[in-house]
Order: sequence, then structure tokens, then C-alpha cells
Amino acid sequence: MKQQHTLVVGMQWGDEGKGKITDIEAARHDIVVRYGGGANAGHTIVTDGERCVMHLLPSGILYGKTAVIGNGVLLNPRSLFEEIDDNQRRGRELSPNNLVISERTHIVHEYHQFMDLADELRKEREGHAVGTTLQGMGPTAGLKAVREGLRLADLLEESDAELEERILRLHQRFVAQLESCKIIPEDIEQYMDKNDSRKRMTQKIRPFFDKTTYIDHKKVLDALKQNRERLRPYARDVSVFLTEAHEQEQRILFEGAQGTLLDIDHGTYPDVSVTNTTFGGVYTGTGIAFPIERRIGVLKAYTTRVGNGAFPTELTDEIGRWLQEKGNEKGATTGRLRRCGWLDNVALQHAVRVNNPTELVLIKADVLNGLKNIRFAESYTIDGQPQLTFPATERKLRRVVPVYSDHLGWEAIDGNLPAPAEAYLRHIELAMGCPITSASVGEKRDQLLQRRAA
Ligand code: IMP
Repeated sequence: MKQQHTLVVGMQWGDEGKGKITDIEAARHDIVVRYGGGANAGHTIVTDGERCVMHLLPSGILYGKTAVIGNGVLLNPRSLFEEIDDNQRRGRELSPNNLVISERTHIVHEYHQFMDLADELRKEREGHAVGTTLQGMGPTAGLKAVREGLRLADLLEESDAELEERILRLHQRFVAQLESCKIIPEDIEQYMDKNDSRKRMTQKIRPFFDKTTYIDHKKVLDALKQNRERLRPYARDVSVFLTEAHEQEQRILFEGAQGTLLDIDHGTYPDVSVTNTTFGGVYTGTGIAFPIERRIGVLKAYTTRVGNGAFPTELTDEIGRWLQEKGNEKGATTGRLRRCGWLDNVALQHAVRVNNPTELVLIKADVLNGLKNIRFAESYTIDGQPQLTFPATERKLRRVVPVYSDHLGWEAIDGNLPAPAEAYLRHIELAMGCPITSASVGEKRDQLLQRRAA
């Protein structure tokens, strides 16, 4: 039977450049599906001179393909409709005819975002903040796990009175959370006004803040009720929808958000996001059980990380700053600068095992242009002993000393990969045991050098 489905998955800490590959692949598929993450993701796509940043919508909508949001996504309706409205203004058709949302998807709203903020505030005081995107991901996933989450189906079925009761329960929980860690409304206000790059997040929830009661629960409720009516026609059973599409031999593209090392189970816990971003997440995050024959692992030619947490190959010197500047390494959601470092074989082997890619695509190979020497962490030692697998704790990861190999750099890539670049890619694919089928050398769709047939 011909190959039907494809996965695009990030092999590092997110921001690998999956958006460009998903965008190219979307043209060859009928349906594009998001299975994890939420509005914390930011996929930048440059198409016909236009730069689009998508947070929640699967990027297939740029091609007019059917877009699906699976149950594994944590869905903020306010962000979703901002994105839908923006795309409609740009002339793209977006309606229940081409967008399907799982009725089992958990809803994110302002309470979750304020809870996220309060968690970060407390952890900052205690010296172990995660540096989240303040999109409410952690609290939404937490409430999902304690079975107090609000799914789209619940939102659609509950009466106004039931919904208000739910919000009031959440309000009490939030106030108790603040009291237990001695956070007063002024602390929240100060945090929202902090002049850092996350301010653009906090300003969106500011209108829901109330100086005496912390949050104006009526405003949250009204917004939810309004969005409920807009969401209603999009809600479907995604497991049924995708399984039927598979049986009708439609081609489905699964679009990963974040990256392997931010996966809640397989990432650098606790400095991770809260969904399963890896291959396994496709199954739990959509309710399908058919094979995905082609799995594209996307990796950047160097490593980046946003937020806090151990980063064994981080470059805090001028090369790190150079990569940051040349690679325009700024978070698409929060605008924060990304930390930069060399490629890391041990972390990548972990990503290869977890996702079992059938091919790799190397992104931003051109950013390395001009470097005399390129380093690649072959292996790790901890306390002088070899560490063969990727450590499970941040405590261990912080003690890692990478063992590097050195590779000759190159000046420019025009049209073809120069011999040193080709040799470097060969080195990576041998280490990974997986072919690199193409290398991206610029942000436009056509700036992709094919190496061998996928
Ligand atoms: P959260 O997902 O907002 O809870 O953030 C948890 C961690 O994941 C933080 O270190 C974030 O910077 C990181 N993170 C979340 N989404 C992305 C992304 O799309 N790209 C890169 N890092 C992300």
C-alpha cells in the first residue's frame, strides 16, 4: 500500500524550524493535525514574502488543507479566535468546513494563565522558576490530571450555572494557592508590569485582573460563554474523523509542537512543557492507532533552548552570541532570546530512540557559515566517568562534561553544500544512524537543499 502519513517532530528543545518543513509537507497531504502543545508554541512560516506565526492552528491552513486540533492540545479559545480572525483578515478561509477540534481537548483560560504566573512567581522566589511562556499550560495539565479539567465537550454541555460553579471553585483554588505562598494582588500586578519579553503575554490577561479579588470571575465566565458559541460548530470526535480519513486513503500530516527535550515524560524534567511532544504523543493526542510510515526528525544545525534548565553544550561566549544574532534566535511566542550551543550527540541519540525518525532534516545550516571550527559533542562524562545515555535528572545533566570532536567550517553555501559542510552532515547522520535528506539554508520555502530521495 502506498505511503500515507507523515510526522514532523522536533529533535531538540523546540524551535528547530519545524514550521518550514510542515509547511512544505502540508502541500502533499490532505489533512494537517496538531497533537500536542498549545498556544505556547510558535511556528514561523515564511510564504510568498509573508511571515506568519502560528500558535494553535495547524500550519496546513495556509494551503487550504483540512486542519485538525487533537485532544492532546491544550486549547485557549481566546488565542485560537485571535489567530482565526487574523487569518480571515488575510483572506484565508477558515470555518468548520476545514477546521476540526477534538471535543476531548482541554480548555485553557485566564485562570490557568494567572495560576501559571503565580507558580512562576513562587518558584522565582524559591530560585527554581521554569521560565514558562505564561500560557497556562502547567495548571491546565495539572487540573486535567486531577480530573478537574474543562474539556471542550464539557464546555458545550454544561449549563451557565454549572459553568459558573466550576469557575468559582477554580477561583477558590487560586486564592488558596496565593495565600499558601503569601502572594498578594500587588505582587501579581508587579509581575504583569515587569518589563520583560513576557509582558506581551501578561498584558492579554491584565483586563481580567481585579485588585481586590485577584480575578474578575464574571469576565472570565462571559468570555468563555461567548467563545463557547463560536467553538460549538468545530467540535468533533477526532479519533473517528482521522480513522475514517485513513480508511478513505487520505494523507495525514502530524505536526509536532515544541521538541523532544520538552516532552513531559522524555524531556529534561522539570524544565519541560506539559504534553507529549514526541512520536508517542501522536497516538494519545489524537486517538488514532494506524501506522505513520514517514517520520521526519527536524534538527537545527546547532542547539537552542528558551527558558531555564541544564544545557550541557551551551555557549556563553562570543560564538554563542554570534549564533544568537545570526540565527535570529528569539522565541516566536515570548520574544525571549534563545540560549545557543553546539549539537549534542547524546541528547540527539535519545531523540532518535524516542521518535524513531525515518529521515532527518537539518535546519539553519547557513547560520554556521563563516565559522572556522564547528564542534560536536560526541559523548558525556560525569565526575570523570563515561555517561552513555541521556541523564534523567537536571542535577546530573548539570554535571555533564561534553567530549567534543572538531570539524572544519565553511564560508558560504550557495546552491550546493561545500565539502566541509557535506562532511559535517555525513558525520551527524552516521552518529544518528539516520539519513539527513535535506538541509535548510534560509527561511524561504525554496531554500532547501535536497541530499537524497526521502
Ligand atoms: P510552558 O510550556 O509555557 O509551560 O513552558 C515550559 C518550558 O517549555 C519553558 O522552558 C518554555 O520556554 C519552553 N517552551 C514551551 N513552548 C516552547 C516552544 O514552542 N519552543 C521552545 N520552548 C518552549
